[in-house]
Amino acid sequence: MSIVSKDIQKAVSILNNDDVVAIPTETVYGLAGNIYSEKAIRKIFEIKQRPLFNPLIVHVHSLESVEDLVSEFPEKARKLARAFWPGSLTLVLKKKPKVPDLITAGKDTVAIRMPNHPVTLHLLKTLSFPLAAPSANPFGCISPTRAAHVEGYFKDTIKMVLDGGDCKNGIESTIIGFEDDQPVLYRLGSISIEDITAVIGAIKIRNKKELAPDAPGMLARHYAPKTKTFLVKDVASFVRKYSNKKIGVIRFKDGHDDAKMIHVEVLSKSGDLKEAASKLYSTLHKLDTLHLDMIVAETFPDYGLGKSINDRLFRATK
Ligand code: TXA
Ligand code: MG
Repeated sequence: MSIVSKDIQKAVSILNNDDVVAIPTETVYGLAGNIYSEKAIRKIFEIKQRPLFNPLIVHVHSLESVEDLVSEFPEKARKLARAFWPGSLTLVLKKKPKVPDLITAGKDTVAIRMPNHPVTLHLLKTLSFPLAAPSANPFGCISPTRAAHVEGYFKDTIKMVLDGGDCKNGIESTIIGFEDDQPVLYRLGSISIEDITAVIGAIKIRNKKELAPDAPGMLARHYAPKTKTFLVKDVASFVRKYSNKKIGVIRFKDGHDDAKMIHVEVLSKSGDLKEAASKLYSTLHKLDTLHLDMIVAETFPDYGLGKSINDRLFRATK
C-alpha cells in the first residue's frame, strides 16, 4: 500500500507518537519530527544517514513560536521575516536553552523558517510543537519536490508522506545568519540575493563550496543524481565530443538546435528563472531514471535564481 496520503489527522497522530512524517513545503519535501522528541529526531538522522554534526531546520507557523525558541532577534532578521514569511527563507538565530542540542548539533544557534504551504501550516497549527525537518532525501541525493520522490526513497522506512502536490519553488530555502549583528548568507536558495538586499541592503555571502563545519549542508557533493553530471557553458561543443554516448541535456530556455539523438529537457521555454528553478530537481530525478551515460547541464545566467540553480548544478557534478 502506498504511504502517500492527504490525511492530516493521521500525520498528527504519527507525529504525536514520536515518529516521523514527510511533509510538503513550497521548497522541497521535508522529513519531519517533533523537535522535543529525541526518538523522532534520532530517527530522522538515521533514515537520512545524515551525520549528527549537520543541524536541522525548525519549522514554525507563527512569530510567537520563533520568539519562544530564540534569545535574540536582530532588527534585520525581523525585517526579513516580515518581508518573506511565510516563505522560503531560513534565519539562523541565537537559540534559547530549550532547543535540544540534537537539533542544532550543539551549536548556540537554531535555523528556523515558516514554510509557505497551506497543508503544512495547517499541520503546524494543529500540533503543540514545532517540526524539525531536513529535506526528505538520503544524504547527498537529489531533494524531493513531489510525494512520489519521497516514496521512492523511503517507502520501507517511514509510515507516511503527507501529500501536498508538487513543490511550487522546487529549490531549498535561502539561509541567512547573523555574525556581530551583520547578515551573512550561508546557502543560496529560493529567494534571490537581489530580493534579500532590496530589504536589508548589502549582505556577506558565504555559500561555501567545500566542507564547511558551519553549514554542512553545503558539502560540495550534494543534490547529486546517480548519473555522472556535467555543468558546461557550451553544451553543443561538449556533446559533440561524446557522440557515442547517451546524453541527457538540461537547457534553460528554447532556441537551441540540439542534435536529435540527445534527450533534451528545457526548464523554462520562455526563459523564466523561477519556473526553471521549480523544475530543476524533478528534471534531475527524471533524467536519473533514463539510464543515460551522462547528464549535461548548461550554465544558467549568473543573477537572481540563476545563481541558486548554478549552485545546485555545480554540486550535482561533484
Ligand atoms: O527549504 C528548506 O530549507 C528545506 C525544507 C524541508 O524546509 N529544508 C532543508 O533542510 O533544506 P536541510 O537539512 O536539507 O538543510 C538545512 C541546512 C543545512 O545545510 C544545515 O547545515 C543548515 O541548514 N543549518 C541548520 N542549522 C544551522 C545552524 N544553526 N547554523 C548554520 N547552518 C545551519
Ligand atoms: Mg538537504
